[in-house]
Amino acid sequence: MSESKNDLMDKLVSLCKRRGFIFQSSEIYGGINGFWDYGPLGVELKRNIKAAWWEDVVRRRDDIVGLDASIIMNPRVWEASGHVGGFSDPMVDCTECKARFRADRAFTVLAAAGETEIVSGGAEAETEAVAREVVAAGASSKIRRRIEQKADEITWTIFRSDQTPEGKTAMCPTCRGSLTPPRLFNLMFETHVGAMQDSTSVAYLRPETAQGIFADYKNVLDSSRLKVPFGIAQIGKAFRNEINPRNYTFRSREFEQMEIEFFCHPSEADTWYEHWRDARFQWYIDHGLTSSKLRLRDHEKDELAHYAAACADVEYEFPFGLSELEGIANRTDYDLSRHQEYSGKDLTYFDDETKERFIPYVIEPSGGVDRATLAFLCEAYTEDEAPDDKGQMKTRVVMKLHPRFAPIKVAVFPLVKKEGMPEVARGIYEQVRDAGLAAFYDEKGAVGRRYRRQDEAGTPFCVTVDGQTLEDQTVTIRDRDTLDQTRIKADEVLTFVREKLG
Ligand code: GAP
Repeated sequence: MSESKNDLMDKLVSLCKRRGFIFQSSEIYGGINGFWDYGPLGVELKRNIKAAWWEDVVRRRDDIVGLDASIIMNPRVWEASGHVGGFSDPMVDCTECKARFRADRAFTVLAAAGETEIVSGGAEAETEAVAREVVAAGASSKIRRRIEQKADEITWTIFRSDQTPEGKTAMCPTCRGSLTPPRLFNLMFETHVGAMQDSTSVAYLRPETAQGIFADYKNVLDSSRLKVPFGIAQIGKAFRNEINPRNYTFRSREFEQMEIEFFCHPSEADTWYEHWRDARFQWYIDHGLTSSKLRLRDHEKDELAHYAAACADVEYEFPFGLSELEGIANRTDYDLSRHQEYSGKDLTYFDDETKERFIPYVIEPSGGVDRATLAFLCEAYTEDEAPDDKGQMKTRVVMKLHPRFAPIKVAVFPLVKKEGMPEVARGIYEQVRDAGLAAFYDEKGAVGRRYRRQDEAGTPFCVTVDGQTLEDQTVTIRDRDTLDQTRIKADEVLTFVREKLG
């Protein structure tokens, strides 16, 4: 990661803590790796993202309904879905320091000039090239000089710990101890249901919300008038005991998903797949992720899960690299067929018109709420120049969040805390708040500082009541992004903001 990208991530993490977007979970006890809390601004941002998704995919469509399934389900669900047998990563353990790594991420790097070994070590990395850089960078300056001087003569041997060649030992990225051969580690969190804690009471925290939809597919169909093609949408928590939670909230152990399972006739699956792939990509662009940082990547055939006929990822260029926000997959009839087999219940669909009975195919757009939130935060973070209280241009930090997502839509300030200004400002604040728009009232400190606080919170509009308001009932309304200040009638603030928010 380059210096400036690193820097951006550090600044964002610090702003998120300082302004109450995101906190480390149970921080006063030293935190817990892979778990995060959303503070007062963060919870509003995340709720707005979820509400926008729900509005767009459920409320504004006639062919999708919602669901809120339980997190703990009958464990047979996870046998049918393949998670009990297969939802595992191969892991390696260090025999010395006991650290654990994903086998495909733990590289061993050896470099020799002729017979002489000049550098060796383990590195945790996504690619061979990065592993080599990490080990070389960790070497003493004397060795680094030798690497540079003898660049042409050096032979590098790099291998992943799950592909260790005969006669070599994989090395620990932390302490250079030796690593065990890979072993499978299931990512599901286990718990027990009821008073007995034995193998008969084992249950799992769901690792995805999708299976709740498949398990309820028949109930939804029987209790509604829906006909194929139709979808079921769900937003909810999912849990994975990720070996290596990393990149802030990007890979967490507790996270939220927003998933649609869209059921259609097998002959229409390709068309619906393309529809959802393009619609979901566009959704992120429409909400402010610039298309240059956003990418739609079709999976190669050899990358596809065994049950998937096609899959594409919506990827965003985070400061730590291009990474997945959402996956759109054609899951064929795999899930419903498996649940039909394991439950013994008929999950076929009968088409009254064509008299055909079939198991629908499923197109699944599956997004992470926390990843979307993080991408919108990264994209929003901006440093530019704005005049301070003395009219001098100073750097300001502004979160240019899409207005639909902004935690606070309007902030209202009296210029000074006297001459009746607070009363007028409070009146406007209450009017906006009572109309259902998230509003904030602030009368403390210099007005420039109040603007800056709202810029950091991503508030699109700030209304200021000043001396002129008392004479002609007008106020200034300041636009977060253009910094334009317009004078409008105090009783038109609500209409003005509503129009701008769209
Ligand atoms: N039902 C399909 C499914 O769960 P997935 O690719 O494993 O597919 C879907 O997960 C989305 O859930 C991902 O694109 C990502 O946004 C989010 N997600 C998955 N694991 C996550 C984690 N450990 N932390 C945060 N988000 C995660």
